[in-house]
Amino acid sequence: MPESESLSNLLSENRLFKPSDSFAKNANVKFDSYQEAKKDRLAFWEKQANRLTWDKKWNQVLDWQLPFAKWFVGGKLNASVNCLDRHVAAGIGNRVAFFFEGEPGDSKTITYSQLLIEVKKCANALESIGIGAEDRVAIYMPLIPEAVIAMLACARIGAMHSVVFGGFSAEALSSRIQDADAKLVITSDGGYRRGSAFALKPAVDKALENPNNVKHVLVVKRTGQEVEWKNSRDLWWHELVEKQSDEHEAKSFDSEHGLFILYTSGTTAKPKGIFHTTGGYLTQAAYTHHAVFDLKPEKDVYWCTADIGWITGHSYVVYGPLINGATQVIYEGTPDTPTKARVFQLIEKYKVTILYTAPTLIRTWMKWGDEFPNSCDLSSLRLLGSVGEPINPEAWMWYREVIGKNNCPIVDTWWQTETGSIMISPLPGVTETKPGSAMKPLPGISAEVVDDKGNPVGNGKGGYLTLTEPWPSMTRGVWGEPQRFIDTYWSRFKNMYFAGDGAKLDEDGAFWVLGRVDDVMNVSGHRISTTEVESALVSHEAVAEAAVVGANDAMTGQAIVAFVILRGGIDSATGAELEKSLKDHVANEIGAIAKPKKIMVVAELPKTRSGKIMRRLLRDVAENRQVGDATTLADPNVMKLISEGLNSGKSED
Ligand code: PRX
Repeated sequence: MPESESLSNLLSENRLFKPSDSFAKNANVKFDSYQEAKKDRLAFWEKQANRLTWDKKWNQVLDWQLPFAKWFVGGKLNASVNCLDRHVAAGIGNRVAFFFEGEPGDSKTITYSQLLIEVKKCANALESIGIGAEDRVAIYMPLIPEAVIAMLACARIGAMHSVVFGGFSAEALSSRIQDADAKLVITSDGGYRRGSAFALKPAVDKALENPNNVKHVLVVKRTGQEVEWKNSRDLWWHELVEKQSDEHEAKSFDSEHGLFILYTSGTTAKPKGIFHTTGGYLTQAAYTHHAVFDLKPEKDVYWCTADIGWITGHSYVVYGPLINGATQVIYEGTPDTPTKARVFQLIEKYKVTILYTAPTLIRTWMKWGDEFPNSCDLSSLRLLGSVGEPINPEAWMWYREVIGKNNCPIVDTWWQTETGSIMISPLPGVTETKPGSAMKPLPGISAEVVDDKGNPVGNGKGGYLTLTEPWPSMTRGVWGEPQRFIDTYWSRFKNMYFAGDGAKLDEDGAFWVLGRVDDVMNVSGHRISTTEVESALVSHEAVAEAAVVGANDAMTGQAIVAFVILRGGIDSATGAELEKSLKDHVANEIGAIAKPKKIMVVAELPKTRSGKIMRRLLRDVAENRQVGDATTLADPNVMKLISEGLNSGKSED
């Protein structure tokens, strides 16, 4: 029987996988956690907060002035002490914190003691150039150990970090530096990707041509490539950090002291600065990492493939795992360099036991073929995780069979930059799993799928995904924009957090997250707003108007498809050259991840009488479907014109 047929048979059975007895017996968390949290949610979270080392205990668990939460009020702690000092003090300083693997094949093993020394030196360096607890620091780096050291050094001195993914453009970096009013940028000359060195420092130089309050740029020498240098501003890491003392006394900060800002796309062109504070965020990052990944710190080798530029890298590479004393793998490069077996080779090399990755990569592996995973020994794996986008059942089954050898529970974890930690996921060893479902809210979390009016839909139905009770790692707001926080998350439904996702509950009450219901696309697990790409396109000299949609894509989940109207005098026949110029322009404005896969030149866009673009109809075109109901269009002929125009070959394909 062909593989696809056997798969569809499996799926039509609505398969349910029960935890194995051996896994269940040794699982970190047992079934009664759900009951315990249900009985007294605040007591449950208070218990989890005790995973951390507090310099002063809180006097109130939660102060909830909807939608503004304060957790563990009055408590004091230091994030970096919780990640490092206390492990060293407890005698496990010789445990490996990171096995770092550079793309060119260089590698480095860093123990908790060594990491602590580096963080202390970096903290001293930051203080020596005037950075303190009132400041924000932008970090724009490849995934190298210094990136983690920089984050922890900021946390140690109470400065908020704002990590900007290294794939973002100078423009995107500039707007984030401005919005957070960063005083320092930490970067590197560049990094390695797909077999060659890429540059980062020039983007920082360009970003800083715009108005800003940045006093210094601290630069790690990673590749040794030539960089421009501004003596009054730029500092080499190896000169400033290396000469510092390895003693540094950490101060205690309030539980609600800001820990970081992380920008994420919303429905407007301006990204939102989601900010998180210390005590609640660390509590839930640590608890979920312990519970969902079943981490046994003495035995496991854990690998989360996310970059530190995303929330997954913050919560499940830096804070959660380090608080729990995990041994981790981090890898700088791409999964196909120098071979498509790279990830599998590293699993074999480091005997990775827990792997956490994104559906896009799983689907890519499926496409590349089983020979790559099969060429390596993956028998060390015992748990697999998925994050960032809905995982289709076929990919889930492939992950289970080919990577996990039918031997590893899969945790499909739903959460967001805003939620800070995993919210909906199976608990391995406890929860049954179904391919494609995130199953149910974790203990201490209350989620509901509701209809238009905010009423629960009940089992067997779909609607909007909401969170109905505050949780410790919830965002404390949108940096500098309190009203936007209220409007975006708390206005759609009364007293509920609206996540922006659609979901359905199956007959058993399991959650199936369906994807965004707003104008946000999810490309390879990364959020990109349609408006952001549209505004980048219209800033190109050839474009008069643009509409962007996320079209289903077998590999990346969604792909960006743009419809553009050219300015008068621009000939659409300029074809391939124009398309390239538009794509490059978007990459320049936002970053390569926002490059449209396809650009179609059209004469008109479908709009309602009030001028709103009907993206639904454009999505039909982008996905090659019969165009749906167009009766509310101001000009009902538009869709016909678009289809005819595209079919007559005028489009840019
Ligand atoms: O649409 C959901 C999708 O990713 C969005 C959050 O994106 P971001 O803040 O960048 O964080 C990604 C990593 C946590 C969500 O609104 N999403 C995330 N995880 C899942 C998911 N969709 C379906 N299933 C998931 N497991």
